[in-house]
Amino acid sequence: MTITRRQFLQTAALTTGGLLLPGVARSDEGGWTRLRAAPAEAMLLDGKPDDPMTAVWAYEGTVPGLPLRFRKGERAKIRLQNGLEQPTSIHWHGLRVPNAMDGVAGLTQAAVEPGDSFDYEFVVPDSGTYWYHSHNRSWEQVARGLYGTLVVEEENPPAVDHDLTLAIDDWRIADDGQIHEDSFGSMMDLSHAGRMGNWLTVNGKSLAKFNVSAGDRLRLRLLNAANARIFDLDLSPAESTLIALDGQPVTPRRLDGPLKLAPGQRADLIVDLTGEPGSRLVLNAVSGGDPVEAAVFEYDQTEGRDRIAGRPEGALEAPQRPPLDHANMVEQGLLMEGGAMGRMESGRFQGQEMTPRELMSFGKIWTFNGVAGDMSDMHDPLLRVERGRSVAIDMFNDTRFPHAMHLHGHHFQVLEIDREPARHQDWMDTVLMFPGERLKIGFVADNPGKWLFHCHMLEHHAAGMGTWLEVG
Ligand code: C2O
Ligand code: CU
Repeated sequence: MTITRRQFLQTAALTTGGLLLPGVARSDEGGWTRLRAAPAEAMLLDGKPDDPMTAVWAYEGTVPGLPLRFRKGERAKIRLQNGLEQPTSIHWHGLRVPNAMDGVAGLTQAAVEPGDSFDYEFVVPDSGTYWYHSHNRSWEQVARGLYGTLVVEEENPPAVDHDLTLAIDDWRIADDGQIHEDSFGSMMDLSHAGRMGNWLTVNGKSLAKFNVSAGDRLRLRLLNAANARIFDLDLSPAESTLIALDGQPVTPRRLDGPLKLAPGQRADLIVDLTGEPGSRLVLNAVSGGDPVEAAVFEYDQTEGRDRIAGRPEGALEAPQRPPLDHANMVEQGLLMEGGAMGRMESGRFQGQEMTPRELMSFGKIWTFNGVAGDMSDMHDPLLRVERGRSVAIDMFNDTRFPHAMHLHGHHFQVLEIDREPARHQDWMDTVLMFPGERLKIGFVADNPGKWLFHCHMLEHHAAGMGTWLEVG
């Protein structure tokens, strides 16, 4: 499915100032920030007079939900209230929190029942760009809008004129402007690339607008909040420098083409605006079709202010992480099988060996090492490892689809791609793997507990692509 957009853009209602998301927005209750998950309405369409609001599920009434902003080392105290008609939980994607705060319903906590609440409290360990989202029935709850951005400020952030967070999402919206119940969980979505939307938003808006001036330096924090769609994000002709992936500093590098962002991933870019006063720069999102304008940076008429001098190199400090002990790695393989046009012959589900057809009758399509994962049956981990050991996971994608593997509670380093040392040994928490690709990641298992490891194409996770690791 390609993304379409009615091209008649209503400018008035959509124009926002430099900072679209407010800074430290808190709905405070005695030191607790409330995140109430409940039905709400959002203007996801263009905002023309006959455009309906779309019924969504949201944190504090907006999509994305209440933007969270912390300082590194600060104590986060967040109270989830469940105003939905189904159980829910919140996961702090990419943050190395204590296991009991990780928010994985069925593994680290029981799902929070309708009307109940749950207190999340942890010290925010790392600076960077993160996000939070529902982790119960996430294939439905995230798709309906239960996600938000979470930024942890650096002690010495790079100097920029605008620090902007852009949460990119695709929605599956019918002609009546609504998300329909029967658009979830189809065998087609489970067995192919996942649930693709037909409507693109940035920060819940169709074509988000940002006011800038010629010569400004931007920091863009990009998040792919879609269930399954991989975006190629193109800011040309502007030159962008990548400074972080998944909140983790990288050796700054110029992008020489569009940035590929898989579901769950984040990227921080520094962009120096070079256009003339009065012109505009467009962020285009490409995903298996024509480019779609996702956001526009509109230059005012002022001549550029004084440019921020210097290049963004070396701007971010690396987080505290024990080094990998390359000589003593615990090695673990992970074979990914299944899906449409795959060659999986059988798989295990709830202790029984089954044919792909039998698996399908349980909604299972994919396996890791021959096992179809299920959140109601988290008995056997992929690996039990002693705390402090270095772990290498050698993954092979023997399917016809890309997958975005996400590890909870840790950051990992991409060590090898197809048995060759990776060119950029980046640290991240979610990595994209193409069909037929082999990838080796390494991390120090220093956070005790039960950690989920799954594909962030949320339909794939639901249909079997999930396992976990126990750090003892
Ligand atoms: Cu972003 Cu297991 O999740
Ligand atoms: Cu997948």
